[in-house]
Amino acid sequence: MPDADKTKTEEKKDFGIGVPMETPGFFLKGSAHLYWGMKNRLSHIFNPKSGHTVMLAFDHGYIMGPTTGLERIDLAIPPLIPYVDCLMCARGALRACISPEVRKPVVMRCSTGATVLKDLSNEVIGVTVEEAAALNAAAITTQVCIGAEYERETLENLAYLINEGNRYGIPTLGVTAVGKEMVRDARYLGLACRVVAELGAHFVKTYYCEPGFDEVVAGCPVPIVIAGGKKLPELQALQMAYKAIDQGALGVDMGRNIFAAEHPVAMAQAVAAVVHNNEKPEKAYDLYKSLKG
Ligand code: 5RP
Repeated sequence: MPDADKTKTEEKKDFGIGVPMETPGFFLKGSAHLYWGMKNRLSHIFNPKSGHTVMLAFDHGYIMGPTTGLERIDLAIPPLIPYVDCLMCARGALRACISPEVRKPVVMRCSTGATVLKDLSNEVIGVTVEEAAALNAAAITTQVCIGAEYERETLENLAYLINEGNRYGIPTLGVTAVGKEMVRDARYLGLACRVVAELGAHFVKTYYCEPGFDEVVAGCPVPIVIAGGKKLPELQALQMAYKAIDQGALGVDMGRNIFAAEHPVAMAQAVAAVVHNNEKPEKAYDLYKSLKG
C-alpha cells in the first residue's frame, strides 16, 4: 500500500494549472488514431527522427526457393542487419538463421500456399497471429493480388491478419503483388494500394512506377514503402529509391537490390543514405563505391 498522501496545506502540489496537456499527433501518416501498442511497434519499424524506414526483405524463398543472393540466409543476412531498420521474412528463416539477440523489428510473412511453379495468388494464411506474437513480430504481412484469379481470397487473408493483429496491437503490412499479366502503372497500383489501405492495413508495400507515383502515394491514406523488384544496376536502384522517397514513399522494403548487389553491405548503407538523409542518388552511389573499396 502506498503511504497515505500528506495533506498539509504548506506542501503545495503542482498540477500545472493553466498549462494545457499536450496531445501530440503521431509522426506517421494516417496513424494518429491507433492504439499505443500499434504506434510503438510502428515506431520501431519507421525511424521517428527521419520518419522513414529501410526494411530488408528476404522472404523470397517462401515462393522461389534459394534465389540468387539468398542461397545461404545465415551467411547473407546477418552482416546487413546493422545497416537496416527492419527485417521482413518468413518464420522458418527467422528461427533457423537469425539470432534472437538481434534487436531489429521483424515484419513476418504469414501467407503460404503457392510457389512460382503455380498461381501465386492462390494463398492462405499459414502463420497464426499468436505465433507471430510469440516470435515477437513488430508487424505481420500478406499479399493481395488485385485483378488476379484469387483476388477475393487474398483480400480475405489480409482482412484476417488485420482483424487478428488489431486484437494484439500488431500492425499489418499489405503487400500489393503484381501478377505477370498486370501492368505496373499508377492506375493499377493506385487502385491496389487504396483497396489495401481502406481494408485497414497499417502500411502498404507497392512498386515504384512512373509517371504518377506521387498520385499513388497521395491516394493512399497510410504510409507506403516500395519493393525493389528485380535486380537493377546499383545506381539505378538508388535512383529509384530516391524518386520514390521524393514523391512521398516513407521507405523501402528492398530485397534483391540489396542482398544481390555486388557489395550488399555497401549497398545497404547507400540505400539508407537516400532513405534517411535524402542523399542524391549519385552521392549515394559514390558512398557505395567508397564503402565497397
Ligand atoms: C513479394 C514480397 C517480397 O518481399 C518483395 O517483393 C521482395 O523484395 P524485392 O522485390 O525488393 O526483391 O513482398 O510479395
